[in-house]
Amino acid sequence: MTPKSPYRIAVIGGDGIGPEVTHEALKVIAASGVQLDTTEFDLGADRYVRTGEVLSDETLEELRAYDAIVLGAVGPAIGDTTIPPGTLERGLLLKMRFGLDLYINMRPFTGVPGSLAAGCDFVVVRENTEGSYAGEGGVLRYGTPHEVATQGSVNTRFGVERCVRYAFRLAQRRPAKKLTLVHKTNVLTFAGDLWQRTVNDVAPEFADVAVDYNHIDAACIYMVENPARYDVIVTDNLFGDILTDLAGAVSGGIGFAASANLNPDRTGPSMFEPVHGAAHDIAGQNKANPLAAIVSSALMLEHLGEDDAAQKIFSAVREYADHSPQTDASTTAVGDAIAGKV
Ligand code: NAD
Ligand code: IPM
Ligand code: MN
Repeated sequence: MTPKSPYRIAVIGGDGIGPEVTHEALKVIAASGVQLDTTEFDLGADRYVRTGEVLSDETLEELRAYDAIVLGAVGPAIGDTTIPPGTLERGLLLKMRFGLDLYINMRPFTGVPGSLAAGCDFVVVRENTEGSYAGEGGVLRYGTPHEVATQGSVNTRFGVERCVRYAFRLAQRRPAKKLTLVHKTNVLTFAGDLWQRTVNDVAPEFADVAVDYNHIDAACIYMVENPARYDVIVTDNLFGDILTDLAGAVSGGIGFAASANLNPDRTGPSMFEPVHGAAHDIAGQNKANPLAAIVSSALMLEHLGEDDAAQKIFSAVREYADHSPQTDASTTAVGDAIAGKV
């Protein structure tokens, strides 16, 4: 293919272990030979505490000009009460997901040897712009005994259908060709019905894809007891958030779980980040597993059309995870090992 590099990449290391794992991811890309022209964006807790700024509209506009965005993680330490909950998560991460129309959160899992999902290979396609993340709701009579808080879930036919279609197309390209809708249609009858009917309506266009359905609670059982039943899972924003932490845990650990926040229509840059958070409990100790960040950046290369380099990184990570007892290797040692293989 025509080399298009250097790619212009916005890098947001963020908080906690974010900068540490991002550093390793960029190290591995450099070893792959793909040229990146990176710009670091100082965003996250420190910037907010220093300046009161989370992500301005101007900075979001600036981000639009990049080929892709690499993000480590953002968010304060659990128990830190100096930053109101959601300030960084909603103000930075969700603002990018919504503002750049990153409507697919694609989270692939490959069970490492010894994990509950050893030998399994499945993908969770999480709707990334709607559901209970949309911010619908509010509060009345705040701080009184009669306080009312509502937090709605927004599900549009347009938003659900574009997500479901993405998941079907993905399932069709995979050997197992199976799609499982995960929802809670037995209780969330309005939203669940919209999701189920959308899947039913789209399915005939993908006649070679087998379709299944699990309630979210049962999916949590199957994810632990029989993850091999899954190929492509499609689900809403909140169920997808929870199920992918579980999927990471059964696949070898959250430190392996990568994600791509995609704008499949390519009307702007997509964003690539690990599933995990800022993990302040292990920050600054060179202890974090950087593989999730490394695989996320390989997903970015794939998205940019650099398939050979992406495959080299996927293989190196697989080989490392399959053959190295990686339990207490340092962040930098793992990064060096993968860069060495690539
Ligand atoms: P977390 O994912 O940061 O940590 C949960 C547990 O997993 C911790 O025990 C942590 O040590 C461990 N862990 C996480 N990543 C690891 C890695 N790479 N290697 C080894 N262990 C790892 O979740 P949390 O503690 O609920 O959240 C901490 C902060 O991060 C919060 O402010 C939260 O809002 C934020 N967060 C941000 C993102 C993001 O930016 N994408 C994602 C999740 C959480
Ligand atoms: C994730 C995170 C985010 C989410 C938070 C930090 C907003 O948990 O990417 O999984 O809930 O989507
Ligand atoms: Mn999450």
